[in-house]
Amino acid sequence: MFKPKALLLCSIAVLAPGAQADPLPPDATYRPPPTQPFSEVKRMDEQQKAAVMQRQAALLGERYDLADRPLPGVMMSGGRKPVQGGARVKLAAGMSWDRLASLGPEEIRERDLLPQGFRPLPHVKQATGGQVFPQRQIDVIASLEQRDLRRFDVDMDLPDHLTPEFPPPIFLTTHPELGDVSRGQALTLRNFYEIMNGIITPVQMEGLRLLLTPFPQEEFNQTEDRKVAAPSMGVACLDCHTNFHTNAAFHLTPDVRPQSARFRLDTNSLRGLFNQQIHGSKRSLRSVEDFTEFEQRTAYFNGDHVSATRKGVHLPDRPNQVAMMAQMQNIIDFPPAPKLDVTGRLIPEKASAQELAGERIFNGKGRCAECHAAPDFLDNRMHDLKLERFYKVGKTVNDQVALPDGPIKTFTLRGIKDSPPYLHDGRLPTLADTVEFFNLVLGLKLSQEEKDALHAYLLTL
Ligand code: HEC
Ligand code: HEC
Repeated sequence: MFKPKALLLCSIAVLAPGAQADPLPPDATYRPPPTQPFSEVKRMDEQQKAAVMQRQAALLGERYDLADRPLPGVMMSGGRKPVQGGARVKLAAGMSWDRLASLGPEEIRERDLLPQGFRPLPHVKQATGGQVFPQRQIDVIASLEQRDLRRFDVDMDLPDHLTPEFPPPIFLTTHPELGDVSRGQALTLRNFYEIMNGIITPVQMEGLRLLLTPFPQEEFNQTEDRKVAAPSMGVACLDCHTNFHTNAAFHLTPDVRPQSARFRLDTNSLRGLFNQQIHGSKRSLRSVEDFTEFEQRTAYFNGDHVSATRKGVHLPDRPNQVAMMAQMQNIIDFPPAPKLDVTGRLIPEKASAQELAGERIFNGKGRCAECHAAPDFLDNRMHDLKLERFYKVGKTVNDQVALPDGPIKTFTLRGIKDSPPYLHDGRLPTLADTVEFFNLVLGLKLSQEEKDALHAYLLTL
């Protein structure tokens, strides 16, 4: 049996001998109030920050090739950011992808050959957790709303070129003829009315206003228990789901305790929610309304209604607020995929031979379509990929215990080139990594040519 508490405490001691700014008992269900004054917690957090960031940078450097290597001529849907190419997960010395895929799970586990980058990815500061925003979002909100999303204890750990286009385009199911309606701006409380006036209904407009309204949560609030320098008005839904997509802001799952066992959550896109029947990687909430209401009741992603109440919880009114927020979310479309027909199949005249070969693998030898079925490329189910067949469970890395992921929601693959990093925790930097990942996990033994074709096909979705 693993001992999360002992492991967590000892690794924090390495960071700052004798002092811990955020005394979270790692095996508790409830989060206790801070025992030290805010100024002291902040001082210690700031003192530890460089070491925390450096430790995470070292981990990412061990796991990934983080270079800026765009695919020539392949842009995200807004046309402003290139898609990154190549598998970035690092292999053990002397290993090749084909050789790895030729070994069985037992051998990979016993010889510890599973690439580190395929394993669960810890939060930048697992013991504290919470919402972490990319610099671009922090800058937009600071300049347009004078609201501070910068934490004093941690920063975003991923380089900008491995995150989605910012700001991403917005496509509406109600106005396909308009294309991107964002005007190249990130929606905020200051500009949303001007950008959307005349395009959306009054109900949708009110939903949008609420989705842009900040409410207090775990790290951003007015109490002494916060991670932002000045008392904060809080965080808005679209601070993470920028323009209803994602900016790669991350968090820890609300659904697991103790703290060391919580997995990282990469913000997912809200595009195409209208055809999805389950929401959240673990919670399987059955409606957008449920998800919307629940987040605000529990301090967003902490699964903690007790702490939320202390910090100023917002209990949105189901018919008057939640329904309008949901209606707005439900008109967000996927980006156009001009090579797909109405059933989600490639149009032969528009696709290359390689893309068509990729589609055949997706539907056949690769078995992808068994879970990612066209036209939405999901099956509204959760699946257990049983990755722990390939590694020894219970090892602690940067205060996170690597446990089996268990069943996770199948994410849609429509518009997938727009939303790196991949998987629920963002452990895979590129689509090429996802091809290697599924080749191994599903035991496909695809040739390099087949993997390249599958990758080319994913870019058409
Ligand atoms: C800290 C960043 C952040 C904020 C703020 C945030 N979200 Fe999310 N959102 C996420 C993450 C991360 C997930 C993935 C959750 C999971 O996999 O369990 C998610 C998932 C969702 C989903 C489910 C998508 C699906 O189909 O699985 C919906 C709907 C959603 N968010 C709506 C909202 C609304 C509405 C708000 C405001 C009340 C909000 N989010 C605030 C990061 C955020
Ligand atoms: C058994 C069902 C199943 C099969 C078969 C399957 N997937 Fe998935 N796929 C999933 C699940 C579940 C997830 C989410 C896993 C996670 O986040 O931990 C996922 C996630 C993904 C993602 C990342 C999505 C995102 O938003 O981050 C990509 C890309 C992907 N799959 C591609 C493929 C490809 C390519 C194949 C075929 C080679 C494939 N999948 C086969 C179930 C499946």
